[in-house]
Amino acid sequence: MPDPTHLETLLQERTRFRRLQHVASCPSTQDLAAADPAPGDGIYWADHQTRGRGRQQREWHDEPGVDLALTLRVRCRLPQPLALPAALPVAVLLACEEVAGRPLTVKWPNDVYCAGRKLSGVLIDAGVGNADTFLIGIGVNVNRVRFPPDLETRATSLALATGHEVDREDLLLRIATRVDSMLQDLAVRRHDRLEAVFRDRLGLLGQRVRVEATAVHEGVLTGLDFERLVLDGTRAVPLAVVRSLQRG
Ligand code: BTN
Repeated sequence: MPDPTHLETLLQERTRFRRLQHVASCPSTQDLAAADPAPGDGIYWADHQTRGRGRQQREWHDEPGVDLALTLRVRCRLPQPLALPAALPVAVLLACEEVAGRPLTVKWPNDVYCAGRKLSGVLIDAGVGNADTFLIGIGVNVNRVRFPPDLETRATSLALATGHEVDREDLLLRIATRVDSMLQDLAVRRHDRLEAVFRDRLGLLGQRVRVEATAVHEGVLTGLDFERLVLDGTRAVPLAVVRSLQRG
């Protein structure tokens, strides 16, 4: 478990991230990252967000000082930027699995689940200030043991999964390391290992599915990579246009 005072040094030694900004509270770490004039890749971490954002204009709530709300700001040229939304939950899942000590799953498009309940969500703001800059927002329920009534049956935390308190600095370092390694793989189109985990943890291959894209498609999911999914061995649908993928 790293001493928090050495966290930035460990990040510099093990990852591309040169800076760590840790604040008690801010509206959203996405905005904190976007507003930082300092150059270079950095991590923006808040103990509490007052206006945390989720995908599709949803809100993201944390319990102050207990969960993890991070934005990883990276500048990198990705040959296939559309692979990032699928590869990112794999990186987060692998980091959380090291702590949870049990297999986790991915729920389309990029949520991480534990025993059927949401553990983590991610949000990517691309091209902020520069075409090659990505703001990778990651929220993890870490040490929360109670959720509001509307989330009670749908959300979980690493503390609930493990039965003990989880060190947030240690988890942050694991996530940063996994994201860094994932970005290195994407930069050279080395997708195979990440795609294999994505397919496996999505758990839909060989299943009958319903896909909402430019049209609605139904069939057996026979192929899936970071570019497309394939139904019934013949019908390919680009992931870029897939809005929803579920058992059907
Ligand atoms: C989702 O599941 O809809 C995505 C949730 C993303 C939440 C994270 S927390 C850190 C970063 N800052 C935000 O305002 N949102 C992301």
